[in-house]
Amino acid sequence: MTDLSVNIGGMSLKNPVMTASGTFGYGSEYAEFVDLNRLGAVGLKSITVEPREGNAPPRIAETEAGMLNSIGLQNVGIDAFISDKLPYLKQFDTRTLVNLSGRTVADYVELCGRLDGTEGVHGLELNVSCPNVDSGGMEFGVDASMLGALVEACRGATTLPLIVKLSPNVTSVVDMARVCESAGADGISLINTLLGMAINVETRRAELSRGMGGLSGPALKPVAVRMVWQVYNAVSLPIIGMGGISTTEDALEFIIAGASAIAVGTANFVNPRTTMEVVDGLESYFRRHEIPNLAALRGTCIVG
Ligand SMILES: Cc1cc2nc3c(=O)[nH]c(=O)nc-3n(C[C@H](O)[C@H](O)[C@H](O)COP(=O)(O)O)c2cc1C
Repeated sequence: MTDLSVNIGGMSLKNPVMTASGTFGYGSEYAEFVDLNRLGAVGLKSITVEPREGNAPPRIAETEAGMLNSIGLQNVGIDAFISDKLPYLKQFDTRTLVNLSGRTVADYVELCGRLDGTEGVHGLELNVSCPNVDSGGMEFGVDASMLGALVEACRGATTLPLIVKLSPNVTSVVDMARVCESAGADGISLINTLLGMAINVETRRAELSRGMGGLSGPALKPVAVRMVWQVYNAVSLPIIGMGGISTTEDALEFIIAGASAIAVGTANFVNPRTTMEVVDGLESYFRRHEIPNLAALRGTCIVG
């Protein structure tokens, strides 16, 4: 029997396949296509203290090998999340990783406190890497001292597994991961979207209303794999790898680079059953190669 179970900083998953925040709604949107019981964990859309409408359209644009988005953290807010969205997820035998975003340290601390001990919440993921809002989000993820202070404050506000989702829009992602480790994080998610831009040459207008947005999808994958590999070799925290995963082979690349779990994002929009196909594909790969468990494959990349 292949054992695909894995523990991410205290959150035990039956398999390493998760959904990436913002690409899977609150779970119910995909229930027609995906058996949520078969997911290791459901990664949920960023929640903020107050509900948010997000940015004006157009806020998504297709690119050659992926997409740009500037959704701007549209969400129902923490109160409606707890009362209207979380109860639905409790019926499934899976884990929930609730993604949090804020403008200030106090916002994040409030969200951590509200969810600490809330039934049905198994882990928290701090989004310190959103490129699509004017304040908060990525500001924390690109400044080492702000990041350290934020993670430390959140650590003090929750006993739940605390995962920090890092931005690729930095000079050294390893430095940021080290800061998270020292500040008491239980794991690292890598990566959020890469800042990008596209222009319609007929109208000379930027494709997105805010000009810039976050690039996701297959174009991102080699950057994400590289960052997972670098961080795996520098810190001992478990890593949730994401960025362009749309097949089993993509997921395996991240695990071999050092990821303990993986998340499917943009691919959910192309094929809503991607996560199920990856679960099946991982099971058959592990059987075929007679690999007993995830730890036996994780971080085994040969270089040179
Ligand atoms: C439409 C869209 C919305 C997203 N919203 C969020 C979000 O609310 N919070 C967050 O942490 N990441 C968000 N992300 C980033 C994804 O979770 C993921 O890190 C990124 O897209 C890379 O993975 P992918 O290439 O598989 O999509 C969003 C991505 C997309 C495409």
